[in-house]
Amino acid sequence: MSTVSVRSPRRLAGTLRLPGDKSISHRALILNAIAHGRAQLRGLSQGADVASTAGCLRALGAEMGEGWVKGRGLAALRPAPGPLDCGNSGTTMRLLAGLLAGRPFPSTLIGDDSLSRRPMDRVVVPLRQMGAAADQGSLRVGGRPLRGIRYASPVASAQVKSALLLAGLSAEGRTEITEPAHSRDHSERMLAALGAPLDVAPRRVAIDGPFDALQARDVEVPGDFSAAAFWLVAASLHPEAELRLLSVGQNPTRTALLDVLRRMGATFSLSAEQEVSGEPFADMEISTAAQLRPIQLQPNEAAYLIDELPVLAVAASLLPGTSRLTGAAELRLKESDRIAAMAEGLDRLGVDVRELADGWEIIGPACLRGARVSSHGDHRVAMALAVAALLAEGETEIESADCVDISYPNFWQDLERVCVS
Ligand code: S3P
Repeated sequence: MSTVSVRSPRRLAGTLRLPGDKSISHRALILNAIAHGRAQLRGLSQGADVASTAGCLRALGAEMGEGWVKGRGLAALRPAPGPLDCGNSGTTMRLLAGLLAGRPFPSTLIGDDSLSRRPMDRVVVPLRQMGAAADQGSLRVGGRPLRGIRYASPVASAQVKSALLLAGLSAEGRTEITEPAHSRDHSERMLAALGAPLDVAPRRVAIDGPFDALQARDVEVPGDFSAAAFWLVAASLHPEAELRLLSVGQNPTRTALLDVLRRMGATFSLSAEQEVSGEPFADMEISTAAQLRPIQLQPNEAAYLIDELPVLAVAASLLPGTSRLTGAAELRLKESDRIAAMAEGLDRLGVDVRELADGWEIIGPACLRGARVSSHGDHRVAMALAVAALLAEGETEIESADCVDISYPNFWQDLERVCVS
């Protein structure tokens, strides 16, 4: 496992094209693999998580190559020769559990140590209500017919919602999901674009099954907003910064970080706004914030920026006053316990941080000092700590730094590119 050393540069400057959005990439592959026809997929994430999805779909008989997928319908999927390896990817495991629950053959889904520890009951419980033979140990699904249900999800989770929509394609009747907060809606957008019989209302979505007539559609994947978040925070807090980020996804279910950055005092602008393949894109420019105020998250706000919270905790460390980032207990169930991992890393860098059950209380501004920190093998923790290192005095060593490959394989090269000494 690699260790990377980072120092604060004199300036942060340049233009970056970010990796393809991870959530949209998974969906572009899965939905086109079960659609009819050939789809060209441009800008797909090259990260390991999306490679896990592609590997599983290939094992299920989908035809695909560099940037294209050819589907012959849901019914053409055939049993994989062995267990489906989802690697580190919760999205792969949960979405494929839903997709495969209603297939006439059994499938087993496995993952790495981190994924094996993550909760799957959130998909197994509703899938069993739909009639599935779903078993949690090593996740086994399939071989039984499904019926539609009305399910009120206790968590706002796009993975749960998407799993049930995919199961709904094989189920008899209507499958309806309501959620406590509106989770990212990439599945709804893409299912609708491929012709699925969806009924969408605020915090509720329903699909009428069985349905096996999705039509393949070319997809252009935007840059990942969650990858942009690292640079948005780094540029806001560095004393001399100006960054341009090209073609970044602006889906409103993903961009709540921008509201928080605005309240914090950040200065950024959007240009070249356009809608491509049913998703909004824009170029973003961000420079050093003119003033800084502490952050208080509003009730429910954490659900809308769950993947951006580790790097927001870094921002809070440099804001004057007490920031409270709360309502984020879900962070303990991600690739690592992100609340504990960030509290440990920030504490080592000299931050006055208190770990809460559902987030952090951070008293700033800290004078960050380089130290040896661990990513705990979690890509977003590694990149958030790298941002802290860009803002710290002295050298920071980040252990297990290669885990950035999960979502942003060129992260360390991009970091070098924007550091001007
Ligand atoms: C994702 C949904 C979110 C997010 C994850 C990707 C998706 O997880 O944290 O990185 O692509 O559906 P939850 O659905 O568990 O909130």
